[in-house]
Amino acid sequence: MSARVAIVTGGAGGLGRTIGEVLHADGFRVALLDLKGAPEVAGELGVLGVPVDVTDEESVRTALARVEQEWGRVDALVNNAGVEPPHTLETVDPATWAQTLDVNLAGPALMIKNCIPLFRRAGGGRIVNIGSRTWLGGGASAAYAAAKAGLVGLTRQAARELGPLGVTVNVVAPSFLRTPLNATKGDPEFVEAFAERFAAASPLGRLVEPREVAHAVAFLLSEPAGAITGETLHVTAGTHLAPYIH
Ligand SMILES: NC(=O)c1ccc[n+]([C@@H]2O[C@H](COP(=O)([O-])OP(=O)(O)OC[C@H]3O[C@@H](n4cnc5c(N)ncnc54)[C@H](O)[C@@H]3O)[C@@H](O)[C@H]2O)c1
Repeated sequence: MSARVAIVTGGAGGLGRTIGEVLHADGFRVALLDLKGAPEVAGELGVLGVPVDVTDEESVRTALARVEQEWGRVDALVNNAGVEPPHTLETVDPATWAQTLDVNLAGPALMIKNCIPLFRRAGGGRIVNIGSRTWLGGGASAAYAAAKAGLVGLTRQAARELGPLGVTVNVVAPSFLRTPLNATKGDPEFVEAFAERFAAASPLGRLVEPREVAHAVAFLLSEPAGAITGETLHVTAGTHLAPYIH
């Protein structure tokens, strides 16, 4: 059988690129889909790079058609694209709510919807949605925490609906990672101080590395994980167990 095909959205970003590298090393044919920089990052990794806006269904259809044209099939979808525009409940405006919910929640739903015909043709499939430990206890901006909690609900519903097609659907929920997403949150000293408090609050006394999240994704896409569906796997160095970190 030819190598399985995996799509990673947000594939030009910090975590997405690492997931792409790990899946490529695992023998997947990898397509990195991103709003910005996909062809460049994919070129560096020797994989396929395709522009997409996950909030735009026409763009999603065009990107999936490109992957199908290249390899004729899709076996795995990693919904990793995400944004976290900074706000508090006092400062948030409707546009920020809409953008955060669109990219982090409606985007994965649109990707899943449009992958269903491909999974039908492949006789099954795997979906991993990248969540966040903030779905459990907050500790992020409100729209982001709400979107990530919604993603768990979407995952469980999708696991029910797509199970009969042989598709598993799970969440991998990381904690703080040193990626560009956090660089947009404020000045570097603030982010560094947050990272230190975070590591101190971990039962393991450390942060999580992006490659550790990527390997959790790879496990859920592997053959032995085929009976796991509707699950949320926390990759947090235990910080989802710890007291609230802010
Ligand atoms: N960095 C963290 O601390 C952290 C913690 C928990 C969960 N996460 C999650 O991990 C995932 C990856 O985040 P990251 O840390 O690598 O951030 P990142 O900013 O490095 O990457 C996010 C990528 O998503 C892309 N993107 C944004 N909007 C898009 C759209 N409309 N269509 C397509 N692509 C779009 C961006 O261009 C970017 O390349 C996100 O879902 C994020 O919520 C991150």
